[in-house]
Amino acid sequence: MYSFDEIAQRRYTDSYKWDVKPCELPMWVADMDFKVDERIKDSIIKRAEIMAYGYSNVPDSFYEAYRDFFLARHDLDLKCEWMIFSTGVVPSISSIVRSTTSLDDNVLILSPVYNIFFNSIRNNHRNILVSDLIYKDYKYEIDWADLESKMKDPKTSLMIFCNPHNPCGNIWSLEELQRLVDMAVRYNVIIISDEIHCDITTPGVKYNPMFKVAGGEKNVIMLASASKCYNLAGLHASVAIVRDKKLRYTVWRGINTDECGENDFFCADAHSTALLDCRDWLDAMNLYVYNNKKYLEDYINNNLPCLKLVHSDSLYLSWIDIKALNMDSDEFTILLRKKTGLYISSGKAYGDNGNGFVRINLATSLANVKDACERLRVAISLLK
Ligand SMILES: Cc1ncc(COP(=O)(O)O)c(C=O)c1O
Repeated sequence: MYSFDEIAQRRYTDSYKWDVKPCELPMWVADMDFKVDERIKDSIIKRAEIMAYGYSNVPDSFYEAYRDFFLARHDLDLKCEWMIFSTGVVPSISSIVRSTTSLDDNVLILSPVYNIFFNSIRNNHRNILVSDLIYKDYKYEIDWADLESKMKDPKTSLMIFCNPHNPCGNIWSLEELQRLVDMAVRYNVIIISDEIHCDITTPGVKYNPMFKVAGGEKNVIMLASASKCYNLAGLHASVAIVRDKKLRYTVWRGINTDECGENDFFCADAHSTALLDCRDWLDAMNLYVYNNKKYLEDYINNNLPCLKLVHSDSLYLSWIDIKALNMDSDEFTILLRKKTGLYISSGKAYGDNGNGFVRINLATSLANVKDACERLRVAISLLK
């Protein structure tokens, strides 16, 4: 029903991802190449036909769409009044850093992690406190003792958590989430749970929303957006979901003071259409990405034994262990791009312990994934 083999042509369209040389293949930033469901395009055309693109309100239907989506797919009962519109997850994170912490407070993150978390803390003159994930047997886990010692620090007031975890793809279990929330409550730390990658999962596998665990009403802020799952990142919209009234007021005040609380003309209808009408597209997209991941995994196992894929049931991004190359990740990705045109992300962008890894974006056609595998093989053959 959906053809993901035929991707959108994004060269020369001012695409951030595709602003590369003609011979280059960009598989870096977390941005999909798939064409959206036709119904999303139709909703945009319908809005465009009004032909006056003035200021818009966020309609109730936008919040109701988020509520219905999480209720239907995750049996999670979110109330519309808990939701605050924001132009993106990152604008919300930066705003919450400003509104809930003071200068020089510690903001805790688990590394390796989405690189922009570092910027949101650093740019607001807060102290980045990193708890490194433990890497063992090609899997990552939380170092609970280290995390607790850092949460306990009276200067630690906020943690930015990624659920599922970009870049290594952990789907955190309910037990892990419960342990984290209990710790945050004990040490009076607010947790931002960035759930933007929520429903990009292996078919049949579900992630666990942080709000599924008990407690944390006063501590947990969930950030959600249809943008990653449905390829809408350029239609800037998201929700910050806060159950506690007082904390919600603080977050709302911050987002509005920072002027990231106003929607553009197109985003609300596009997001609502995606969340309400395009769930079969999302399932089909997940199956396609799963097969891309499988192709990459088989190719690596059969042809590139010096690489190891970190297995994950979430994200359209794969995290690859390149330690056996004995090469700095930046050097490898620069060489790969220069010699073959394949542009992927160096693991060092995601924290110091990301060195020895690279991240590749598989939300593209299988033909591009095959091409990328071949380019990887060529680059590695040049190292010998
Ligand atoms: C974990 C995570 N959070 C947030 C974002 C970006 O969110 P937004 O575009 O809504 O600001 C990304 C994009 O890659 C991401 O991976």
